[in-house]
Amino acid sequence: MQTCIIETISEFKKWRAALRQDQTLGLVPTMGALHSGHGYLIESARRECARLVVSLFVNPLQFAPGEDYATYPRDLESDLAFCTGRGVDILFAPGEQEMYPRPQRTFANVEVLSDGLCGQFRPGHFRGVATVVLKLLNIVGPDRAYFGEKDAQQLALVRRMVMDLNLSVEIVPIPIVRGEDGLAYSSRNQHLTPEQRKVASALYRALQAADRMASVVEDPTQVKEAGLAVLRQEPLIRVEYVEVVDPEEMQPVERISGPVRIVGAIWIGSTRLIDNVLSEGMGKTLRPGENKMRRK
Ligand code: PAJ
Repeated sequence: MQTCIIETISEFKKWRAALRQDQTLGLVPTMGALHSGHGYLIESARRECARLVVSLFVNPLQFAPGEDYATYPRDLESDLAFCTGRGVDILFAPGEQEMYPRPQRTFANVEVLSDGLCGQFRPGHFRGVATVVLKLLNIVGPDRAYFGEKDAQQLALVRRMVMDLNLSVEIVPIPIVRGEDGLAYSSRNQHLTPEQRKVASALYRALQAADRMASVVEDPTQVKEAGLAVLRQEPLIRVEYVEVVDPEEMQPVERISGPVRIVGAIWIGSTRLIDNVLSEGMGKTLRPGENKMRRK
């Protein structure tokens, strides 16, 4: 069956009102240029929900001045075919005028979780993300909304917003989908030249090296250094940050005493890439009777 495109909020609400009460509604929010990463979210949602909406909106509010809003890849026709191929019921694709008919004066801001990492380098980004996600949740009214772990900081703050504001939706996290060389799928990978594409996989290799270090030391500085050493070998890469953070608060840890997220952001030419791994720290390699100090 062909996915139906809906471009206005009023038309969407009509479709929504005709749903039966017992039909679970799933939402996968996206900015389009759909790839296998989005595909995994959509397929997971399709299995779990009776009705499935994918939203497609390149949200100007989450791009800081000078960022790639104008050049962000847009291809509605192929995104529609992508959705049709995966059994999506509705592609909700509102225009900018529909989402922001007048200057936005009300914002959602998730404090602390938005401050560091990408938040530090992309002023206003997470305020824009939280605001548009809140608007989409209010418009669509899903039972479940699916977010990728690829954007770990975004996922953490959406979860926190839902808890803090008692929103009636379940946020479902979906693991990162990677290419054969480990590079996480991203709409922005399209901008990489073949030469840049080859070195981009160093980001995942760096995070894996950091993860291995985290299984034998408690000091986050040594863990970061293990990742940075890999990235330094690639002259085309400029590191924005590598950090070891608490997975819920997304704040740097002083000592690795449990699961942490190791996160990184790099530039290759004018393309910015992010990635992360969830590391269990020293916990995962401990065997019965083995004590932490001995392993240092
Ligand atoms: P976008 O970058 O299009 O991503 C949409 C969703 O797909 C996000 O939840 C993201 O984490 C997930 N995703 C992207 N690449 C992935 C990969 N390789 N593996 C797993 N999941 C992946 O994130 C946004 O859009 C926007 O900020 C949005 C939430 C739609 C708000 O505007």
